[in-house]
Amino acid sequence: MAKVKKVFICSNCGENSPKWAGKCTACGEWDTFQEEIIAKSDNREEKKKIYRGTAKKRDAVKPVILPNIQAGNTQRIVTPDEELNRVLGGGIVNGSIILIGGQPGIGKSTLLLQLAINLPICILYVSGEESEEQIKMRADRVGSPASECYILTETGVDKILGHADKIEPDLIIIDSIQTLTSPFIESAPGSISQVRECGNELQRYAKETNIPIFMIGHINKDGAIAGPKLLEHLVDVVLQFEGDRNYTYRILRTVKNRFGSTNELGIYEMQADGLREVPNPSEILLSHHEEILSGSSIAATLEGLRPMLIETQALVSTAVYGTPQRSSTGFDLRRLSMLLAVLEKRCGIHFGANDVFLNIVGGIKSDDPALDLAIVAALISSLEDVAIPSNVCFAGEVGLSGEIRAVNRVEKRIQEADRLGFEQIFISRYNTKGLDENQYNIQINTIGKVDELFEALFQ
Ligand code: TYD
Ligand code: MG
Repeated sequence: MAKVKKVFICSNCGENSPKWAGKCTACGEWDTFQEEIIAKSDNREEKKKIYRGTAKKRDAVKPVILPNIQAGNTQRIVTPDEELNRVLGGGIVNGSIILIGGQPGIGKSTLLLQLAINLPICILYVSGEESEEQIKMRADRVGSPASECYILTETGVDKILGHADKIEPDLIIIDSIQTLTSPFIESAPGSISQVRECGNELQRYAKETNIPIFMIGHINKDGAIAGPKLLEHLVDVVLQFEGDRNYTYRILRTVKNRFGSTNELGIYEMQADGLREVPNPSEILLSHHEEILSGSSIAATLEGLRPMLIETQALVSTAVYGTPQRSSTGFDLRRLSMLLAVLEKRCGIHFGANDVFLNIVGGIKSDDPALDLAIVAALISSLEDVAIPSNVCFAGEVGLSGEIRAVNRVEKRIQEADRLGFEQIFISRYNTKGLDENQYNIQINTIGKVDELFEALFQ
């Protein structure tokens, strides 16, 4: 056995260095080098023996002239989960590696176990985090298996691939990549070199056998997938599962997709018996009040390519203490300050002596600029204590000089508002190019400046 080798690895980019350094020379990040024992053995022959047929198959690969490559070879496994199909760009591509990241407890294991149960093919579900009984209990909660689903509680990547060789599954699910260990790496599970080595091995296996692999990845406190960025470069698809733990909605976002668009988004609701797909998000995100209250307005937003009508609520009250409070949930606080400044300067509406609280209903976070107009309307409505009718919605960005700017894909937003039975939508005057107003039942109001909104709504 070769002698133990220690290196310093950058936790951001995976760069190696024999010595510790304050700054990574490759990515420029500070204080990212961590010491790791990497190699128990450098013996490539031994490695080849353990990992399935690597050398043999490698030799067989020859360069091919581009026109001679058969197109249309990407076969997709279409899952029963429509939202998952959507974010994957139409289904699971054979031989692809899909990484799912997300906060602990958000529902990553539930999502994939549910997939394993409902997809009628042979699946190997590997868990390094839970025992067989725990998985069984969870499986009983979310449904009865329609598939040939093998559960394996093992963390050695060589052993996992050994079992996969015997079972020959159509899909492998790994929960999670941070629990896996390679026999060639000394350091602890979840360390950079372990994650990198196991990720590499799985990728090689997926490409050679054409079996797609799902991997769950933990995220660090900044929200990035733990381990080197390298893992994200290695895989074909990176999905992010997010949501507020206090609410039941979960959003599955595509961060990277080699086989489809990254604008797609899947929406789920966590229920007592697992995750439920939400095909019409607007219908549940709008709170259905009996009486109309001031400070609430509806924005026609776009999440990825999906139109979604969401409710914004503002509360403007007299400040009790010297410095007025500004608080915002689901919306950028600095953007709120900017909108308040625009209202102050361009419309002469003063919030200086008021506390301002803003909330996006349903625990949704959105950075769509089209929210601006709805938020401005909600702020004025709360300040003046005049309610906005519940059949009105808004889509427009507010500029620094108080102008209402055009937003992208306005037709989609109008269509969705129309479909949900809204009677009026406010959009920018500059957004009407190519818009055929007659094809909608909804009345389209165009405005150019914030003060026009004030007049249209409250006078
Ligand atoms: P889990 O999938 O274990 O999260 P992760 O793998 O991302 O850490 O999800 C755990 C949470 O989901 C837990 O708080 C309980 C909740 N849950 C439900 O509400 N309903 C269910 O049917 C299941 C299985 C879990
Ligand atoms: Mg889990």
